[in-house]
Amino acid sequence: MNNLTDIKQLSRSDILALFKKADEIKGMSNSERHTLLQHRSVFTVFFENSTRTSASFQLAAQRLGTHVVSLNMAKSSTQKGESMRDTLLTLAAMQPDGLIIRHHDDGFCNLASIWLKKHNIAIINAGDGCNQHPTQGLLDLYTLYQHKDTGPLNIAIIGDIKHSRVASSLIDGLEIMSNNDIRLFGPTELMPNPRNAVRIAESMQDALDDADVVVMLRIQKERLPHNLNIDFDNWHEHYGLNENTLRYCKPDAIVMHPGPMNRGVEIIDAVADGPQSVILEQVTNGVIIRQAVLSYCLA
Ligand code: CP
Repeated sequence: MNNLTDIKQLSRSDILALFKKADEIKGMSNSERHTLLQHRSVFTVFFENSTRTSASFQLAAQRLGTHVVSLNMAKSSTQKGESMRDTLLTLAAMQPDGLIIRHHDDGFCNLASIWLKKHNIAIINAGDGCNQHPTQGLLDLYTLYQHKDTGPLNIAIIGDIKHSRVASSLIDGLEIMSNNDIRLFGPTELMPNPRNAVRIAESMQDALDDADVVVMLRIQKERLPHNLNIDFDNWHEHYGLNENTLRYCKPDAIVMHPGPMNRGVEIIDAVADGPQSVILEQVTNGVIIRQAVLSYCLA
């Protein structure tokens, strides 16, 4: 079994192989696809809320013939004081082939893989704190390369980047794939630590200038410290994507958002639902990419 806890585990050729697998699975009939991971079983263990990742992992596994048990952590025995470690060891004792885990702590999936190292169980990270969301990074890259050549591309990522595991995995993935011009913009307090692959832009115009791709992010309110001096009420005016700010990008730029969106805050309806938006394609590709990831991890 292979773990996937961090997109940086993957090389460029691993990512291309996953995309090839995704294309192959997409081309299969339902009955052919259903035999790929027959007699496998996985638990989805989400300690944080989710719509897209949770539903698409469940659907991806079911479409490959895998038995899926989705735990409702709000009703689990963690509420009676059972530790995270005991919870995972208990699930591992039932001998599933994989655990798909979302947790609010950075690095939780790596910790889980250490706790369970004696078990032959794949640990798949469905998002851990501000750290990583590798399958979101992969589906974002897969969607992006369906529309654009593999680069170099001008890519703008706007919003609360510091707390975004989506941005973290996407930037890592873009770095692995090719030498892109990645510009980040948002309040200074919400910018990540400096890294070679990215440039912090000075304004929306600077970030979006001639962009091929723009990725909008929501404010991760659940992860923000309380003492920030940011004018959230006027967020859109400073960091929002609308018809005017979109004009800074190339005319054929694509608009991405990992969801959930806060319409009217980081993006307006006309852009989210407009001709340049690929936001629902990202969701569709989420199921396809997660099928490829399950094939990689559980094969
Ligand atoms: N993009 C994403 O992780 O969405 P969910 O929180 O709905 O899974």
